[in-house]
Order: sequence, then structure tokens, then C-alpha cells
Amino acid sequence: SAGRAGRYGAMNVLVIGSGGREHALCRALGASPLCDRILCAPGNGGIAADAECVALDVMDFAAAAELCRARGVDFVVVGPEAPLAAGIVDALEGAGFACFGPTAAAARLESSKVFAKRLCRRRGIPTADFAAFDDFAAARAHLRRAGAPITVKASGLAAGKGVTVARTLAEAEAALDAIAAGAFGAAGSEVVLEEVLDGEEASLFALVDGATALPLAGAQDHKAAGDGDTGPNTGGMGAYSPAPALDAAMTDRAMAEIVRPAVAAMAEEGAPFRGVLYAGLMITESGPKLLEFNVRFGDPECQVLVRRLKSDLLPALLAARDGELAHFDLRWRDDAAVCVVMAAKGYPGAYEKGGEIAGLDDIDDDSVEVLHAGTELRGGRVAAAGGRVLGVTATGPTVTAARAAAYRAIDRIDWPGGFCRRDIGWRAAERESRPRRP
Ligand code: AMP
Ligand code: GLY
Repeated sequence: SAGRAGRYGAMNVLVIGSGGREHALCRALGASPLCDRILCAPGNGGIAADAECVALDVMDFAAAAELCRARGVDFVVVGPEAPLAAGIVDALEGAGFACFGPTAAAARLESSKVFAKRLCRRRGIPTADFAAFDDFAAARAHLRRAGAPITVKASGLAAGKGVTVARTLAEAEAALDAIAAGAFGAAGSEVVLEEVLDGEEASLFALVDGATALPLAGAQDHKAAGDGDTGPNTGGMGAYSPAPALDAAMTDRAMAEIVRPAVAAMAEEGAPFRGVLYAGLMITESGPKLLEFNVRFGDPECQVLVRRLKSDLLPALLAARDGELAHFDLRWRDDAAVCVVMAAKGYPGAYEKGGEIAGLDDIDDDSVEVLHAGTELRGGRVAAAGGRVLGVTATGPTVTAARAAAYRAIDRIDWPGGFCRRDIGWRAAERESRPRRP
């Protein structure tokens, strides 16, 4: 088994994906004494400095299995949700390759919001009150009865763009009409209409081995494109850890009320969950409530989590795959970590590719790490090749210090076609600037 190979060391590890999350995973896994060779498929220009990048269509599972066979891969770590939801773990495990990540059946926690919400209702897991529809006339009638504010969600995978928190009925109807008109394709064949929750958001990550869930450090991302959390939603413009709203007591509570009951439900209902379970939470006056589950590391939350992890990540992921988390323990640095994403101007709308990025070699702060989310190498030079392009991650004794270091590094990067938010971590920094109680 992968566990046995792990104990003996010298593993060939393959990371599937091509973003900043996968760059962080390649660095962390590649640094493990148990790892002999780190491969990334397809990776990107910057990842190539840390892993051997191999071309792959991540939705072509036969090609993925062939790659594992050809390269003697001992362990596969899958980054993004789309191949997980489509069954890459079923396919690779079926072909004899050990994988970190959920089966397609377990990935329904993310790939079907209707599935996740119904599971919450069955199991008494706190979440926004909701109604689910596959009939848009019925959904419209419900909207008119319920009124605004209301949250309108496409049930399926929509790259974070399928959710509208509508303040007016007109806004809600427009969101529903867009889903009905096919804005999200098959991901919009069902909709969830739910109560709007108030509070502070936080993301709780847990490694899960089918039965046992081991919490990771808390993190928070910023989904909006603009400063002050304004503008369109993105995959994430930055992240920080720890998340002040998720202290030890709140983490325990969310584990007990949300994560563990969901893990138990999946096991009892025949689709045990293995991998990272990412619970997007709203910390309300009455406690933590689930906004959504994701079935993988967040991007860019992963970048800050692995920077704070003292323990070796590889044996932890192996233990999750092998059902051996019960006696596992992880150690964390006290330092805070902040990741600021640099994106191509225009993102999340239309943007230009190909702009040259200079100055990366001028960053001489050891606490700073530049991870590549979407770059390519052109004759030895780094060029932008995606929407989110770089993630600059820094650590420090506080979020305030870490983000200052990240922005100092960013100011050395010369990329006229890029932009970033200047206020990543503002909530945490604001708290840190308040006088402490004696
Ligand atoms: P989701 O993809 O379901 O996490 O939704 C994306 C974002 O929409 C979340 O990060 C929240 O900011 C917001 N959101 C989702 N559901 C709700 C809700 N019920 N109440 C308030 N905000 C929500
Ligand atoms: N940063 C949000 C996500 O990865 O879904």
C-alpha cells in the first residue's frame, strides 16, 4: 500500500493540477524526506522549477493512469475539484495507484450543493435554511414567496461564480434567470435558494481518512476582486492564516457540529470521504454554520496552510489515504502567513496573456515565497499565462507583519499587466491593531 511505500521512503509523487495550490503542494511534498521524485501534471512555468512538469489533460483519466505507469508513480495528490468530481480517484485507484482525494461519490459534497444541503438537513448540521429545485417555475414562485434578501446558487461546479447573495427580489430573479438560461451549463440544472446568513466567514480544513477527521489550521480567503471586498467574485485574491474568527474553541465546535457529522454520514451512507474536506463557514451569532463544502484544498488557502505546517505533509496525506489518521498529529508554526495573489488586469473577466514579469529575482526576503498560479517560460523569461498568475506568500509574527512583507516583495515585481488587492488580511490586521484586553 501507499502507507508501506511511505514507511520505506523514496516515493515518486505526482501532483495533478496547474495552479498556485499545486505549486505549494509540489514544494511541500517535494521537500519530504520520503519523496524521491516530484512530478506535476500539467504544472506551469514556475512549478517547473520545483517539480518535473508533464503535459496532461487532467480530465483524461486513461492518460493519467498511463503517466503513473510510465513514471512509476507511488502516490497521486489531486489538486482541483473538476477531476475529483468526475472520478479521477476512482479511475486511478482502480488501476492500482494510491491517490489522495475523494471518490466521485464522496466529491458530491462539493459537486452537488443540493446533495450537501440535504445531507446537512438529514443530519442536523447547521446551515442556512434552503429549498432546492430542478423546476425553474417552482423556484421562481418560491422566490416571490420568500422575498429578498436571499441567496441563489447553481447546484453544480461553477468555479465559485454560481452564487449570488441577492439584496433585492429583482437581483434574485436575474440570478435565477441566468442559471435557467444556461449560464453555468449542467451545473445549473438544479438550484438552491437559501437564507442569507450574517457573520464573519472562515474556512476550516480537515484531513479525512474515511472515518477520522483531523483539523488543519484555519484560513480565510478574499473572493472579491477589489479592495474592501468589492467587485466581482474570483477564485480567491488572497488568503491568510490563522483566521481570527476560527480560534481553538470555534474550531472544536465546527469540527463537532459540522465536519465530523458530515464525515460520519458519508461513511454510513456508503461513500466514505477521504482527502481534504474544506468547510466554508459563516460564524453567526448562534455559532458556526456551513456555507458550502469543498473537497480539496482551497487556492490560495493551501499556500498559507503549508507555510504554517511544521510537520511533513506527505506522511499526513498518506495516512489520510490509508485510513490511519486516528493516531496522527500535526504541528504548526505560531507565525502567521499571508498570500497575496497577482492577477492579470481584467480578471475575473477577459484579460491579456503573455505579458513579461520581471523582478522576481530581486526579492531577497527569506520569509517570502513566490508561487506560480499561471505562468509560462519564454526563452528563460517568466510570462503571464492565466487569470491568477502569481501568489506572493510571506510569514511573520502577525498577519500585519506578514502582509507588509508580502507587499514589499510585490512592489519589487515588475509586471505592468498585473494587479493585486492591497488589503489582504484587513480584518485580521484590524483586530491586531485593537488594544488587547489586560
Ligand atoms: P459558496 O460558493 O457557497 O461558498 O458561496 C460563495 C460566497 O457566497 C461565500 O463565500 C459567501 O460569501 C457567500 N454566501 C454563500 N452562501 C451564503 C449565505 N447563505 N449567506 C450569506 N452569504 C453567502
Ligand atoms: N479560494 C476558494 C477556493 O479555493 O474555493
